Amino acid sequence: MHRPVPLKQADVAGPSPPKWLREGLDHVWLPYAQMKTALPPLPVVETRGSRIKLADGRELIDGIASWWTACHGYNHPHIRRAIESQLAQLPHVMFGGLAHEQALTLARRLTALLPDDLDRVFFSDSGSVAVEVALKMAVQYAVNRGQRGKTRFVSFRYGYHGDTTGAMAVSDLDEGMHASFKAALPDHFIADLPHNEHSTMQLTASLERHGDEIAAIIVEPLVQGAGGMVFHQADVLRTLRTLADRYGALLIFDEIFTGFGRTGALFACEAAAVTPDIITLSKALTAGTLPLAATIARNKVFEAFWSDDAGKALMHGPTFMANALGCAAANASLDLFEHEPRLRQVDAISRQLATELEPCRELPGVRDVRVKGAIGVVELDRIADINTLRARFVDEGVFIRPFGNIVYLTPSFTISEGELAVLTHAIRKVLSGRRA
Ligand SMILES: Cc1ncc(COP(=O)(O)O)c(C=O)c1O
Repeated sequence: MHRPVPLKQADVAGPSPPKWLREGLDHVWLPYAQMKTALPPLPVVETRGSRIKLADGRELIDGIASWWTACHGYNHPHIRRAIESQLAQLPHVMFGGLAHEQALTLARRLTALLPDDLDRVFFSDSGSVAVEVALKMAVQYAVNRGQRGKTRFVSFRYGYHGDTTGAMAVSDLDEGMHASFKAALPDHFIADLPHNEHSTMQLTASLERHGDEIAAIIVEPLVQGAGGMVFHQADVLRTLRTLADRYGALLIFDEIFTGFGRTGALFACEAAAVTPDIITLSKALTAGTLPLAATIARNKVFEAFWSDDAGKALMHGPTFMANALGCAAANASLDLFEHEPRLRQVDAISRQLATELEPCRELPGVRDVRVKGAIGVVELDRIADINTLRARFVDEGVFIRPFGNIVYLTPSFTISEGELAVLTHAIRKVLSGRRA
């Protein structure tokens, strides 16, 4: 049966959506969307800096940086040049049995930036897969050391680690978007973060009882992103480090959201002064240009796989792992972190967000306003009609995409003060006019 995506809110897509949108829309399945009721996507023809240009000529200021990937803004010339020159020379070769300069240089540079002996990089092609690899590393770490039965994980309420099966299973299935899959997924321990005495005692008791089964504790350090932009303090991570060590579990930091400056330091683990055993990176790794991810292990993890026994090898190898274009983009992005004042820009964005979002606290239906690094959040009691809210932002000339009960900004770090002011003004204006 042919069920077209409704283009009924054609004014959102523009007065006359381009032919490719009209003809192609019935053949794509959009992310996180009820296809029957979702607004049609906005037809984009060009991106530059913090601007998204639509097919009808409108230009939106981007508050999300494409799911917080485009940390240097879109189409940064340094990254573009790096990808173009790599494309002419070597776009991709398989990483099994072959190596190339961009991947090995990137591995060396990433490990030099990360703390302690987080020294061994396994490349993949998306955040979810990087998490799958981390989970497999943790399970096999125990197997290779002769520890049987360590096959489960501790993860946290409001946590989100991706959409693949293993990653969903360690995400918060009750609060999150994957509840329908609960019965089909392995059962892990979803705990409250140990942010007070009670939750610390509960987590400790659970580890005391089930420590023999637990391969690793996995957490998004400092900010739980897609599960609701929930912040916590560094001492939570110190507690997790202590508990992981006490109960013989590995500690995995999923820095796919927080990595590369988003919280104010280059990595959240560095800000918290806690070194995990495994860290996952993606998203801003290539500054939002190409899909690439990395799972990086400490030496003690790698050493458990180092053997004359082929059965102790890590059996994983995505076809496009260490893609040369992606690695070239990531190396160029690291150049920009080295040579341009990105973390100072994050600091300035943080201060501006705090000042300009604070008045939202007085608006009806606003439950909380919070800012960390270049993340600004206005939490509402509820959003009754998310489509109308999203469309109102487009009317204001901005791209802001609320989810759940959250309106948030994760702009590029190169956004100008004026552009950011347009975004925060739009939030204040749209939320003021909303019926709570
Ligand atoms: C913390 C975290 N982990 C994992 C993922 C999954 O990454 P991907 O969408 O690239 O699979 C995300 C994506 O939002 C994320 O924020």
